Parts: sequence; structure tokens; C-alpha cells
Amino acid sequence: MSQQSESPSSNESAPGARRFGILLLDDEEGILESLELTLGDEYRIHSARTGEEAPEILEREEIALVISDQVMPGMSGVDFLERVKERRPQALRMMLTGYADLGSLTRAINQGHIYRYVPKPWEPDELRLNVRRAVETFALQEQNSRLARELEQANERLRRENVFLRREVERRYAFDQLIGESPAMLRVFDVIEKVAATDATVLVTGETGTGKDLVARAIHYAGARKERRFVAQNCGALPETLLESELFGHRRGAFTGAHADKKGLFELADGGTIFLDEIGETRPGMQVRLLRVLQDGEIRALGSSETRKVDVRVIAATNRDLRTEVAERRFREDLFYRLRVVEIHLPPLRERRTDIPALAHRFLDQVGRKMARSLEGFTQAAMERLLAHPWPGNVRELENEIERVVALSGDATRVSVDMLSEEIRGAGETSLPAAEDGSGAVVQDLNKAVDSLKRRMIEEAIRETGSKSRAAERLGIPRQSLQKMMKRLGLGGDDD
Ligand SMILES: Nc1ncnc2c1ncn2[C@@H]1O[C@H](COP(=O)(O)OP(=O)(O)OP(=O)(O)O)[C@@H](O)[C@H]1O
Ligand SMILES: [Mg+2]
Repeated sequence: MSQQSESPSSNESAPGARRFGILLLDDEEGILESLELTLGDEYRIHSARTGEEAPEILEREEIALVISDQVMPGMSGVDFLERVKERRPQALRMMLTGYADLGSLTRAINQGHIYRYVPKPWEPDELRLNVRRAVETFALQEQNSRLARELEQANERLRRENVFLRREVERRYAFDQLIGESPAMLRVFDVIEKVAATDATVLVTGETGTGKDLVARAIHYAGARKERRFVAQNCGALPETLLESELFGHRRGAFTGAHADKKGLFELADGGTIFLDEIGETRPGMQVRLLRVLQDGEIRALGSSETRKVDVRVIAATNRDLRTEVAERRFREDLFYRLRVVEIHLPPLRERRTDIPALAHRFLDQVGRKMARSLEGFTQAAMERLLAHPWPGNVRELENEIERVVALSGDATRVSVDMLSEEIRGAGETSLPAAEDGSGAVVQDLNKAVDSLKRRMIEEAIRETGSKSRAAERLGIPRQSLQKMMKRLGLGGDDD
């Protein structure tokens, strides 16, 4: 045989010696001892006298190979190895047999339950060689399945990356999605365009639903960083430590549950833009860390002592009044000034009602396409109601209203007053006789009707005179009364 050339010094340990475990099962102590003598130098040997001891060893130890005697009291070796196969399919199995019980042995080999059988008595060198081959086979199988697992994980990562890229492409055209014709929005577009060409930090403010998200994306995708990532994080959604780990990353073991190193969003956004939404919700500790990034462009992962430079443009947004937050010491003044290098304020929809028709038509088209309904527009009366409603939820509320209308539109071809929801139907009803669009809507609540009329008159007076003081004069009431009335009617009592 050629074992001499394969194992030139079979007593010396092979590379990676004793890395692999072998389980020996035999009821004769003497056999176990001599097997241990033959194999103990190269492998970790675990011996068992009965089949009952074996499962625990298989459970506890990394076993590459099981060598079992064929004839034992209680259970045959073939049966035992079959059970091993169920428990640890990856371990190879060898049978030691004194006289060939050919029937069961051939069956076992043919069914793949055992890898090889060793005749008793054995040649030590031959046994060593056979065991070495078995262990190599085991190691190859292990490597194979590890590689397969890694490949699967890599595929999964790629798939996720793909989904991310596709979604970003869909959002790319955020600027085209921004609709507005009011002077206020035209000014906003102008600022977006100018600021997009720079790396300046931007603070976007405005009530909920005014389009802060959309504006942040528009700035990113209109600028030089558009080929790199735009990542968004809602700072109000997570407890402080988790938020810190999301933004700055963490090292393995930084806190319970940190099983591996993790990159933070600042690092992922390197070269691109990070959007810190709801910045007004951050706690003082987080504010200090953000200040540091804005000042030095440096981040430090949780649990790490090293800092790292990143090149990230920061856009922040909030629907809180940060000046009040600063005055009441909930928000750091230095951070506030660092953030609002440029501030873009999005006025509530009720202060730019001229945007309503364009927005309503855009949503009608969009939603109509999505739901496969084609409505060609609004009746004049319906549009007037949309124009008169105060829209506390701003553009998002308008979008939702249109979605609701389209979903319930049946076979209507135009949106009429009776299709609008009740709060909106109520708006502006005084100046609109119920008969006008045949909806049959009638003025049922005198107070509501009067409010609606007042709202209209005030808005008109302000529009035509250009200031609240002159509007008050025209309406024949003191300025303070006008202020109060506007507040109550949801017209925004801010000074002009
Ligand atoms: N000017 C606009 N043109 C077209 N769609 C808009 C406009 N402004 C807002 N929208 C749409 O209105 C919805 C709400 O906008 P967005 O999520 O940007 O608001 P937000 O200010 O971030 O609100 P929140 O403070 O609640 O997060 C979105 O579906 C957005 O696409
Ligand atoms: Mg938002």
C-alpha cells in the first residue's frame, strides 16, 4: 500500500492536528484503548461503551467521524450509525467489524449510512489513512456548506441593495414632484435650486404634511451629491442609544445585543446627504454629538475610541418651533445656528391656497392612475370647497382626501361636492347655493355657515389690501378683533 508516501510519519501530528473530534463506540474496553492509541495523536477522541452515551457526546462535541463496532449488546452498529446520521448528518460514519455481517453491512453502505468499513483486526497505518481521508471529506463538506451560506448571505445583501437603489431611483425626481404656484412656493423653489448647488446645512421647517420630506430629497437630487446616497433618519422614532448607534454605528459588544460591528448612517451617507427628520425631538446628549459632526465632520462609533472623518451634507427638518425650543432650553442654541445655515420654511397650505387646484389635479391624476379610475376634474363647487377648507393636515390631508374620493367615486366622471368628506363639504357653503352643482347639499348649521362666510371675507380683504391692519379697516373692526377671529377660524393669527 502507499500509505507510507501519504503519511510519511504517521505518529507526527498532521497540520491542524486535533482540530477534529472522533467518537468511538465499542463495548470492549481493549478495542477502545487500541483505537485511541492509533488515533489519539491526531484527533480528539471521545469514547463510549454503549449507544446510550453517544447522543450526549454528539450534542456537546464537534464530531467529524464516528467509528462504531458492529456487534454490541442491545443495538447493532448499523442501527446506531443510522441514528447518528439523523442527529448529525454531516459527520462521517465508519463501521468496525470482526466478521462481515454482509447483509446489513451492504445495505447500510448502499443507503449511504456509512462511509467505509474497517475489518478487525486492523492495520494501524491503514486505519490512520482511512480516517484521514474521512476527515478530509468532512472538512471539505464543511467548507462547502460554509461557502454556500456565505454566498447566500452575499446574495441577500445584494438583493437588499437592489431594492434600495430602485427605491432611490423612484424618488430621484422629487423636484418634479414638488407642486406649487403660490408666490411663497415659488420662493421656496428658488432657494432649493440655489442651495442645492452648495454643501450648506439646511433646516426645513413647517407644519406636518407641508412637504418637508419632499423638499429634503429635492435638494439632494438637484445637487452634485445626487449620485451618492440620500439616507433619512427619523430622530423622534428611537430611544437615544439606538438612535446613536443608527447614526454613528457601533463596535461589537458596545451594548447588549451588539453582536457585530455596524456601520452608521453618517458613514453610509459619506459623499451624500443625511436627512435628520424631527430634529426637534433629539435629547441633549444627541444634540452634543450632532454638533460635533457639524463642527468637525467627525464621527465616533459607539464603543470605539477612534474618530473618523466623513463628508456628509446635513439636512434637518422639524415641525416644532425651534426658536421656542431654544428659548425654553430644550434645544441647544449652538446646534440651532449650525443647522439653520439656510432655513426653508414651508407655509401651511391654508396660507397658499392658490396651490390647491394644481395639487388637487396632480393627486387626482396620480391616484386615478393607481386605482385605474379616470376622473377628469372637479366641479366648480367642489373646487370651491377645497379652496375654503383650512387643511390642518396640509398637503398630506389634501392627498388623503383625494385618495378617499377616488376610491369611492364609482362611475362618476367629475368630483362633485357630495363626494367630498363632511368637514370639507361644510367649508364655504354660504356663498355656494346648494343648487349650483346639483349636489343637494344644504346649509344646516347657521354658525358654520357664518364662520365660513367670515373666513372668506377676511381672506379676500387681506388679499386685496395686502395687510391685516388695512383689512381690519376695510371690514370695519379693530385689528385685535380681526387677529382673534382669524385664530379661531384657523386662518393663522401670525403678524404680517
Ligand atoms: N408641494 C408638493 N407637491 C406635491 N406633493 C406634495 C407637496 N408637498 C407635500 N406633498 C405630498 O404630501 C405628503 C406629505 O408630504 P411630506 O411627507 O413631505 O410632509 P412633511 O412635512 O415631511 O410631514 P411630517 O412633518 O408629518 O413628516 C407626501 O405624500 C408628499 O408627496
Ligand atoms: Mg416628514
